[in-house]
Amino acid sequence: MNKTPDSNQPIGIFDSGIGGLTVVKAVMKKLPHENVIYFGDTAHVPYGTKSDQAINRFSAEITRFLIKHDVKMILIACNSVSAVAKETVTSNAGSIPVLDVITAGTQAAIATGSKSIGVIGTLATIGSGAYERSLRQRNNQLQIKSKACPLLVPLAEEGWTDNEVAKNTLSLYLSEFMQNNIDSIILGCTHYPLFTSTLQALFNNRAVTIIDSADSIAEMAQNLLVRHKLINTQTSRGHFNCFVSDRPQRFRELSERFLGRPVPDVQIVNLA
Ligand code: DGL
Repeated sequence: MNKTPDSNQPIGIFDSGIGGLTVVKAVMKKLPHENVIYFGDTAHVPYGTKSDQAINRFSAEITRFLIKHDVKMILIACNSVSAVAKETVTSNAGSIPVLDVITAGTQAAIATGSKSIGVIGTLATIGSGAYERSLRQRNNQLQIKSKACPLLVPLAEEGWTDNEVAKNTLSLYLSEFMQNNIDSIILGCTHYPLFTSTLQALFNNRAVTIIDSADSIAEMAQNLLVRHKLINTQTSRGHFNCFVSDRPQRFRELSERFLGRPVPDVQIVNLA
């Protein structure tokens, strides 16, 4: 029953809410002619504090929604989903390829040659140990320290990414990283790229590489599309369709902060 995929089909990208727009931004930069469909599960955000069962259930529904929209590939732009529900997404996607931000972040970290890596993320992501497993599979000599930073998601959504509250919160969360010789930090949550310059300032003169899996997953997507001969050859900019499960107005207001430009047309859908 599977039809042959064609290059005009959109790339499906999803997250628990708005954070995945940092991945959309990287994809639009690298692949400007691709059509993109985004789903932000704003009715259920945050995933980071939810159970694995709940995250798996939401992820299955969203995957089916994206498949109905005829996507040619799915990018999981949520670390919490990548950590606990990747198999659910893959099995619901059938023959459609699925990429995830944890694999992307791991590859980027390994490519830096870093020996001592700090990982920050939500409670779900850090609690799952998914980054540590993924990193150790590629290099079992690595020093890895992980820290859940649950306050960073609300701070990012509030736009408090470089004020005193953000600086103090980061320095409290990361005090252990600062005492150890961490040479790179993986931003294991798609909200966290908004804190990049504050993090750089916090580590001031130390050579710490900040790893954002958004660029890495965009590159993986490009490679995969090239391999499958599915790069969109249209010369105009790709279309961007944005769906959320609740509060489209709030999503619209916050979108510029995450995407670098406003998203005027956000549609609401009820998956259940
Ligand atoms: N964007 C999600 C992630 O990358 C974090 C937000 C949430 O907790 O839902 O894990």
